[in-house]
Amino acid sequence: MKKEEFVGFDRHEYNPILRPKTEGLLTSLLHAQKPHKVLEIGTFIGYSASVILENSDAELTTVEIDEKNAADARQNLKSFEGRCQIVCDDAENFLKKTQDKFDFIFLDGPKGQYKNYLPYLKNILSVGGVLVADDIMFYGLVKSDEPIKHKHRSIVNNLRTFLENLKSDADFETQIYDFEDGVSVSKKVR
Ligand SMILES: C[S@@+](CC[C@H](N)C(=O)[O-])C[C@H]1O[C@@H](n2cnc3c(N)ncnc32)[C@H](O)[C@@H]1O
Repeated sequence: MKKEEFVGFDRHEYNPILRPKTEGLLTSLLHAQKPHKVLEIGTFIGYSASVILENSDAELTTVEIDEKNAADARQNLKSFEGRCQIVCDDAENFLKKTQDKFDFIFLDGPKGQYKNYLPYLKNILSVGGVLVADDIMFYGLVKSDEPIKHKHRSIVNNLRTFLENLKSDADFETQIYDFEDGVSVSKKVR
């Protein structure tokens, strides 16, 4: 289905949906990795979830804080019902209580929280699993040498810390893709 045909697409002026190159990268990683259990943080109306489900045989758990978005996603992902669980909750709440392990994680929720989520995500990612984080450059500001406006400063600083923590963690092999709004791909090697 095209993005524009998704229930709820018209309700939003700005649609923070997976962009084409990031979708291509996610698709090829799913084909290479062949995950069994995928976690997504940030469902929105279910577009990237549909990409994950169409390009793998995995069971997907996807977490969304907004009830209306989660309800739209439920309709959009109806055909995957047996393989897809949509959890309407704050991602940090979910991460604190989940007992599950995942072999593929797509992180696409609140950018300022990536740094706080990382220890939980590392803990529930199995060895050999992959963590993909979208929009890590935050409109290019994360790599900019210019002073950052006050309203963006904490998100940008948190994303910079997230990336430093990922890159300096010997348990992860991390690659940064500098297209669209930036994507990191980290394999948990031990
Ligand atoms: C970039 S959008 C996700 C787009 C979706 N992955 C896609 O490509 O189709 C981010 C989503 O994260 C949700 N979100 C924001 N804060 C959250 C939180 N604390 N816990 C869970 N979801 C959150 C937003 O409501 C929004 O729908």
